Amino acid sequence: MSSLGGLTFQRNLLTLISTFIIISEGLIVQVLGIDIGGSGIKGAPVEVHKGKLLAKRVRIATPDPPTAKKVTQVVNDIVQYFDWQGKIGVGFPGIVKDGQIMTAANMHESWVHLHAENLFAERTQCPCTLVNDADAAGLAEMRHGAGKGRKGKVIMLTFGTGIGSALFLDGKLVSNTEFGHLQLHGKIAEARVSDRARTQKRLSWKVWGKRVVEYLAHLELLFSPDLFIIGGGASKDFELFKKSLKALNTEIIPAQHGNTAGILGAAMAGSNE
Ligand code: BGC
Repeated sequence: MSSLGGLTFQRNLLTLISTFIIISEGLIVQVLGIDIGGSGIKGAPVEVHKGKLLAKRVRIATPDPPTAKKVTQVVNDIVQYFDWQGKIGVGFPGIVKDGQIMTAANMHESWVHLHAENLFAERTQCPCTLVNDADAAGLAEMRHGAGKGRKGKVIMLTFGTGIGSALFLDGKLVSNTEFGHLQLHGKIAEARVSDRARTQKRLSWKVWGKRVVEYLAHLELLFSPDLFIIGGGASKDFELFKKSLKALNTEIIPAQHGNTAGILGAAMAGSNE
């Protein structure tokens, strides 16, 4: 190759590389994820395709009582804190249908039948998508965590203030399943088996583990799942109660993103992809 030919080749290569960079930069999707929980409201900007936080998350204690007015103020504070002007995705601990909240068991009655998606969008001036918090966490684990590539029936459960659930069929979400509200011993399951029940009643890991087994056995009977993913606050303590889980027939693994899954998944839902 002559030296001129070599130069042209180099220039073409550089053009190709910079075009590739521009195209891949264009694929970067950033959304602010916000996870509303019974004890804290957490948020961070997320790079959706990589499933990574772009900054340290902020956490603000959930106002008491957690009224729509007070919590909306906190959501807006988080948007302002990051000086955010793009899309936001919000996870809420209740049934969410087309942007409207239908239940709010561990929140405040002022949420019920509120179109919170519109409320957050108006207040923050950012396009908003609202989803159930456990569905959001499940989306993150299925795309970027413990459930990646898993087919069949996968049930993700978040053990926190309540019990959240997300059901996936061949990787597709079946939203708003609310398995935490199944009845066990005449009570809703989350009153006996949530992480809050464990701490409030000062249950040992062994005793709480037995309750978890009983609950999961009930879900096994009803759904014959192929995989359980254990998420929420309890996922970081999985080693402490996994012994008890041996009694079950279904594979059980801990979530990989712990409490961050809710933020990641909310942002993924907010990207509308
Ligand atoms: C709510 C669910 C929520 C779960 C975890 C339950 O009380 O009904 O919608 O996913 O708590 O926050």
